Amino acid sequence: MKVLILGVNGFIGSALTRRILSDTTWSVCGVDLHDFRLATALDHPRMRFLKADLTQDRGLIDSLIPACDVVLPLAAYALPASYIKDPLGTFELDFEENLRIVRRVAEAGARLIFPSTSEVYGMCEDSLFDEDTSRLVLGPIAKERWIYACSKQLLDRVIWAMGAQGLNFTLFRPFNWFGPSLDDIRQSAPGSARVTTQFLGHLLRGEPIPLVNGGAQQRSFTYVDDGIDGLMRILQNPDGLADRAIFNLGNPDNCVSIREMATIMIEELSAFPGFSGLSGDAVMHELAGSAYYGAAYDDAVHRRPSIENALRLGWSPKVPLRQGLRLVIADALASGRWRPKDDAPPTADALKAYA
Ligand code: UGA
Repeated sequence: MKVLILGVNGFIGSALTRRILSDTTWSVCGVDLHDFRLATALDHPRMRFLKADLTQDRGLIDSLIPACDVVLPLAAYALPASYIKDPLGTFELDFEENLRIVRRVAEAGARLIFPSTSEVYGMCEDSLFDEDTSRLVLGPIAKERWIYACSKQLLDRVIWAMGAQGLNFTLFRPFNWFGPSLDDIRQSAPGSARVTTQFLGHLLRGEPIPLVNGGAQQRSFTYVDDGIDGLMRILQNPDGLADRAIFNLGNPDNCVSIREMATIMIEELSAFPGFSGLSGDAVMHELAGSAYYGAAYDDAVHRRPSIENALRLGWSPKVPLRQGLRLVIADALASGRWRPKDDAPPTADALKAYA
């Protein structure tokens, strides 16, 4: 099978590429502006990497699509701070550019696997978000945070309608996937990373942890390896079960409040050699979403997936939150960039033992 991944250097694209190359005989054609997450995959005989800009090199993208069996257009803005800072850019890339690509996939008769998002459920009040029955509830227009969810939701609807005209598609909805190299931990500006990276960066730099709107809002954190397992099931498509269907890929057992996430992260980092003093030093401070992100911020107070659809594919998430966080912390510390306050830097062996 020939797999085309647009945005291959992203967190999901790079992890999926590594898994495909290690576990299957499929080939990957990957397109991105950058390649820093791809490392050794770049030299793999079944990997072809093309450095290109999806929004500029459209002729190239259009020529690649008919040569592949399945296309994953993964390039998108995915940081809430970006939706507010650049709502039109978010719409243009996440909706307009991807719609163009989806149309080319439909014309080519290739299979489409498209990233929807947990954000499409918005402020839905269901205890478990269900792909087939939950209402998708977004806030007012002036709350520009929702332009991402709205763009993704409309594209979900367009893709669904194109399915009735013959497009073979699968929509998947990642629920707060996290893992090493999710975002750049060296960035310290508010909103420059998803919450796990942001919190770990603050802790390692000895900065207070900002709890936006008090931190009672909940998320279901899903370790990246579990998410990639789910995507592999979708690619394998047993008995065509993934055709024209939507799958939440999230870990309902890892549903915690953001305040709990901060506490757990402090506990887990404190257990690493040299960081035991952290638990007493770490400080959390509450601030309004408008102060942290700007007036256009709004938020989902609760987000937990039903995984009934994905269970039918034979998938279930395995990695508990604390274990996933230990892997993220070990990866960050292995860079040697962070010096513990109360001890010598941990050795590579010590880090392995703790992760
Ligand atoms: C994310 C992003 O929109 C996308 O990555 C993705 O589509 C989707 O949701 C997902 O990954 O499932 P969100 O869950 O709000 O949105 O992502 P984070 O930026 O990681 O924030 C999580 C929560 O932590 C939010 O309630 C935010 O207000 C809070 N937060 C974040 C803090 O309290 N402090 C911080 O320093 C950062």
